[in-house]
Amino acid sequence: MSGFLFTSVKTAGGMSKSQGRRRVGIVGYGHLGQYLVQQLQKDGSQHGLELAFVWNRDASKLEGTVPAELQLGDLTDFLERRADIIVEVAHPCIAQDHGESFLKAADFMVGSPTALADFGTELKLREAARQAGHTLYIPSGALWGGQDIQRLHDGGMLQALTVTMVKHPDSFRLGGHLGELVQGAQQERKVLYYGPVRGLCPLAPNNVNTMAAACMAAPSLGFDGVKGCLVADPNLPDYHVVEIEATGPGGFSVSTRRKNPAACGAVTGAATFVAFWSSLLVCQGHGGRVYLC
Ligand SMILES: NC(=O)c1ccc[n+]([C@@H]2O[C@H](COP(=O)([O-])OP(=O)(O)OC[C@H]3O[C@@H](n4cnc5c(N)ncnc54)[C@H](O)[C@@H]3O)[C@@H](O)[C@H]2O)c1
Repeated sequence: MSGFLFTSVKTAGGMSKSQGRRRVGIVGYGHLGQYLVQQLQKDGSQHGLELAFVWNRDASKLEGTVPAELQLGDLTDFLERRADIIVEVAHPCIAQDHGESFLKAADFMVGSPTALADFGTELKLREAARQAGHTLYIPSGALWGGQDIQRLHDGGMLQALTVTMVKHPDSFRLGGHLGELVQGAQQERKVLYYGPVRGLCPLAPNNVNTMAAACMAAPSLGFDGVKGCLVADPNLPDYHVVEIEATGPGGFSVSTRRKNPAACGAVTGAATFVAFWSSLLVCQGHGGRVYLC
């Protein structure tokens, strides 16, 4: 960051812009959005970052904590704020509906990568990034070794990848038949799903972002080739477990097991908040491609 000038200038659009600082737009003001906004307000300048805007579906949630000039009323007006990077921490529908427009103007970190299990959305966003020269960032979240997976893929060594996520039944937000299955897991450990991640993302969009990140790290396997295993275990009241198994030719294999402390019933593990901030710090612009951060 050395050599940056931190003087305030007016841009053509009339917005104040500090030279050298990357302007960050935050879309969504729930747990992650509030955490990131707080971090940006507290430590942003020392990392060369400043807040460009905060948008939330329910704008009243921003009152009192986000200065009025940083609140964005209508998401389609995002261009006026001249963000360098836009961070979605709201819902997969944001990437599906606005991701392409974001990428035409800025880098985009998609906090809900389960959105990319929709084939058309993944294709559209990869293409928008390539054409505009902006980066589609995928935060690693609770994925351990994502860059190693990416390297295995790059070297043509990745033959199979399975991501297993184990949580307390109260930590799931599940639709369809998985919602019913999890009810039966209050007493004993139960496998809720085993199969391609593509089929799981629409059923558990808030719970399997880590699996979606793995699919993006391993595009040769992708959402159809990477296997996801979702397990409810009533004996895990205060942490989540993520296990990753990658295999390659000649008997090559790697297995990792990560314990992620989480408040009882919480969907997002505590370490994931810090991981998101670290991911944002990596987003310095890596050109027109997908980048795991
Ligand atoms: N990549 C990862 O590892 C990872 C980890 C945790 C959470 N996430 C994802 O990040 C997102 C935010 O997580 P959180 O813990 O802050 O959630 P949260 O529920 O605390 O906050 C979500 C925010 O988005 C808004 N929202 C909900 N549905 C919306 C919709 N359809 N359109 C627009 N806004 C909507 C809510 O009003 C709320 O302000 C979720 O999609 C979650 O699945 C990803």
